[in-house]
Amino acid sequence: MKKTPISSEVVNEVIDAFGVHPAGKATIRELVKIVNDIEGITGQEYIRMEMGVPGLDPTFVGVEAEMIALRQGVASKYPNIEGIKPLKEEAARFVKLFMDVEVEPMHCVPTVGSMMGGMASFMVVNRSDHKRTGTLFLDPGFPVQKQQCLVLGHQFGSFDLYDFRGEKLRGKMEEEIEKGQYSSILYSNPNNPSWICLNEDELKIIGEISIKHDITVIEDLAYFGMDFRKDLSQPGLPPYQPSVAKYTDNYILLISSSKAFSYAGQRIGMMVISPGLYDRKYPDLKRYYSSEKFGHAMIYGALYSLSAGSSHTGQYALAAIFKAVNNGTYNYIKEVREYGKKAVIMKAMFQKYGFRIVYDMDMDEPIADGFYFTLSYPGFDGFQLVEELLYYGISAISLDITGSSRTEGLRACVSQVRREQFVVLEERLKLFRKNHPIPE
Ligand SMILES: Cc1ncc(COP(=O)(O)O)c(C=O)c1O
Repeated sequence: MKKTPISSEVVNEVIDAFGVHPAGKATIRELVKIVNDIEGITGQEYIRMEMGVPGLDPTFVGVEAEMIALRQGVASKYPNIEGIKPLKEEAARFVKLFMDVEVEPMHCVPTVGSMMGGMASFMVVNRSDHKRTGTLFLDPGFPVQKQQCLVLGHQFGSFDLYDFRGEKLRGKMEEEIEKGQYSSILYSNPNNPSWICLNEDELKIIGEISIKHDITVIEDLAYFGMDFRKDLSQPGLPPYQPSVAKYTDNYILLISSSKAFSYAGQRIGMMVISPGLYDRKYPDLKRYYSSEKFGHAMIYGALYSLSAGSSHTGQYALAAIFKAVNNGTYNYIKEVREYGKKAVIMKAMFQKYGFRIVYDMDMDEPIADGFYFTLSYPGFDGFQLVEELLYYGISAISLDITGSSRTEGLRACVSQVRREQFVVLEERLKLFRKNHPIPE
């Protein structure tokens, strides 16, 4: 056995006790547990890249607003499921100022994170037509969303977007839609994990397909504004966060506070339902909900049965954050840009020691530097690579579990890695390379 930075006995023992072989097959939260256990036994810190936890302080205005609301006694009151008025108003303003899309406050509804936004969307969209019960995922993607479809008993299909960029997207989507019975299409933009960013032409294609086949697009904006190649941070000024909302009236936007505002812990996000969809009547919804109206079924059917609304204080926090960014008194992008800067350094370091960037191009440009990047190493598949890196004190997830066709790769998240850990990262990568020579 070659000497590794973390005791191989401990790593083997923890992986065996966990029972997932190879460990690269583990889900994100399972890997978190494996790494926590190894760290607990060895006392050695990992370079943690497995989970997309924000690595920055929560947005200050949110915390302040939340504390004020708490002191005013909101904790004892059930929040309105539709959301508190200031949040709904600021959310509609945010959508106008940062996306150039018109919606009314009534179309903006808080959810317990975008996680719940996704679940509720599936519960209503995929039940709006008894002949169709599925979601087409433009992968790679966030694995839990497929888990949500599974637990709901919904069908899903997917393909790897990377192979069908630009005009090719149309043909591939048409082909998949022919095969499946889909009510919804879901993708994240920027994309977790590849960090490709769909452009206006592609969003237009998705919008046109949504109209042609009457399919609702669930646009997951978990990384809102975080294509750092452009400055998307100026309220009311172009460029705006690109969105399918420009090209179809059959959409739901999921705006998460977790990454853009470092507010993951409070589990608060926003679902924005297009005005046309909100008012639309689907008789088949009556099978599950009291109303055939989409917006009503979403709020008083799905969101009511899931949690009867989102926490009162979280709503006050998000209202204050939106207000500050809308008024231009707080530039959230300035803070999260740090992820892109760390990605530049980390990607270069991995490449220096023989790793390759898997999703390396975004159309004809190099992939942007953001919250995630993807890696492979000659001679390993993604599952093996995740497991092998555990012996070197580095944790990540395999691309395979994200629906990627690039099964040789893994996803690395920059957020939790601190700059002062770069020295240790480099030492570990150097040793990895030494122990795994690449044939010339
Ligand atoms: C693509 C994507 N969608 C949704 C989420 C969940 O967001 P939230 O924390 O708002 O539930 C994440 C979190 O990592 C994500 O990456």
